[in-house]
Amino acid sequence: MKTKKALITVFAVLGSTVWAANGFAAGTKGDPAAGKDKAALCAGCHGDDGNSMVAEFPRLASQYEQYIVKQVLDFQKGHRANNDTMAGMAATIADVQDAKDIGAYFQGQKMAKEPIAPVDKKLVDQGKKIFQEGNPKTGVYGCVNCHGQNGKGKSPDVSVFPVIGGQHKDYIVKQLKDFKEGRRSNDPANMMTDIAKKLSDQEVEAVANYLSSL
Ligand code: HEC
Ligand code: HEC
Repeated sequence: MKTKKALITVFAVLGSTVWAANGFAAGTKGDPAAGKDKAALCAGCHGDDGNSMVAEFPRLASQYEQYIVKQVLDFQKGHRANNDTMAGMAATIADVQDAKDIGAYFQGQKMAKEPIAPVDKKLVDQGKKIFQEGNPKTGVYGCVNCHGQNGKGKSPDVSVFPVIGGQHKDYIVKQLKDFKEGRRSNDPANMMTDIAKKLSDQEVEAVANYLSSL
């Protein structure tokens, strides 16, 4: 248990170093009221309240402001290069303050409870086990250690670890395969790539079924 705690602390510190390096560790916070207006374009795909109804567009409701800002900047700089459509959308945000405001607006929204696609009960059970315990045989570390109980994250101060519980199943599958196969590589210290590479395609399906059911 002690080692695990130490590991998480290391990751958290590492996370904040990455933030500092990107230049948005401190500074002004986003204004959700201003963000609501600025999010009009985003709402077209991600939903007015951040609960998109299409699996390829991730839910942004309740996602951490700072995580949203990081992804927008990563798309702009080409660090996250796994989707041209979203890269084009990120390019329309001229000012970091706008990204913060939009992020603050979506962080303040409640994530919808119901998945948009039915889940497979057997896969949900298997996925829950992987989420909690990982897979000791293949060296997969339990997702809960970084993504928090039910995948709802740890806290907005530890925004390096995103909220993933309640996210669309197909979106999660795509991200895990993008990490695994090298199309997405914007994760600090290769944290997600290392894990995704150890997951079988079947385990990816299972954990995605579980996460989308939350
Ligand atoms: C035309 C549709 C479309 C619009 C409009 C759009 N996005 Fe996206 N967005 C996407 C898609 C598709 C993805 C998923 C990319 C992938 O497959 O990895 C995405 C992903 C994201 C992510 C990453 C979420 C995560 O969990 O990692 C963020 C943040 C985001 N969009 C923010 C925005 C913001 C802010 C705006 C408004 C300026 C916006 N998007 C407008 C299509 C859109
Ligand atoms: C050692 C910590 C750690 C563990 C363990 C971990 N993750 Fe992650 N995960 C991260 C980090 C950090 C990111 C954010 C990457 C970035 O900044 O773009 C992430 C991002 C993700 C994303 C993309 C979210 C989005 O919308 O952009 C998914 C999906 C995900 N993880 C699923 C999992 C699953 C499933 C497991 C367990 C099999 C897992 N993670 C275990 C650290 C971890």
